[in-house]
Amino acid sequence: MIATHPASRIIVALDFANGARAAAFVDGLAPGSCRLKIGKELFTREGPQLVRRFVEQGHDVFLDLKFHDIPHTVARACEAAASLGVWMLNVHACGGRQMMQAAKQALAETHSQPPLLIGVTVLTSMGRDDLTEVGLDTEPERQVLRLASLARDAGLDGVVCSPREAALLRQEVGENFLRVTPGVRPQGAALDDQTRVLTPAEAVREGADFLVIGRPITQAANPLAVLSDINRELAAV
Ligand code: C5P
Repeated sequence: MIATHPASRIIVALDFANGARAAAFVDGLAPGSCRLKIGKELFTREGPQLVRRFVEQGHDVFLDLKFHDIPHTVARACEAAASLGVWMLNVHACGGRQMMQAAKQALAETHSQPPLLIGVTVLTSMGRDDLTEVGLDTEPERQVLRLASLARDAGLDGVVCSPREAALLRQEVGENFLRVTPGVRPQGAALDDQTRVLTPAEAVREGADFLVIGRPITQAANPLAVLSDINRELAAV
């Protein structure tokens, strides 16, 4: 059974060094106040049991493993992720239409309430020169639009994107296609290694449906206070 808390748009990135630290942080959270993102580092260290623990505590978990492989393998991996009870998972859209369709179909066939399936387009760490080097002679923004349209056509529920791309994606790819955005910083918060950020309210105004926020919450002296400040900021948008 997948728990859903439609009120909160915040997905807290649990970028902790180990499961004990992540669990100590999560134990203090009310499930309705945010969702949780588990990425490759934490999952590789701690495995599915940490995911199960948070799901059993009533949290919506975004399993951010960005699958990319042949269609059959990705479909089975998505099915395995869904069986943990996650709320959202993702694949690389550059894996192609067949891979994304296979993932979507596997989820629909094996789960009466399948998790949301989100595509990753162009990693924000990739610039124009990086794309050229891997044989893609195009601007990153063009490639983002191309892959987002393909993901939509393949039946995915949305994409991970920069909040600065959200408005363009809403316009070009459609309203009913989720935009999940990292690169968000509350007013006055440290940028860390993020460069072009928007505030939570700005990101939602640009068209973000869910905001992935890590360090401004997880590294705060009082994470619950920061979380409720952001929830309050978003409620007023
Ligand atoms: O701590 P911070 O708010 O910067 O964390 C953002 C999270 O979103 C991290 O888990 C990071 O890996 C992820 N992310 C990102 N930029 C992308 C894709 C994912 O910051 N383009």
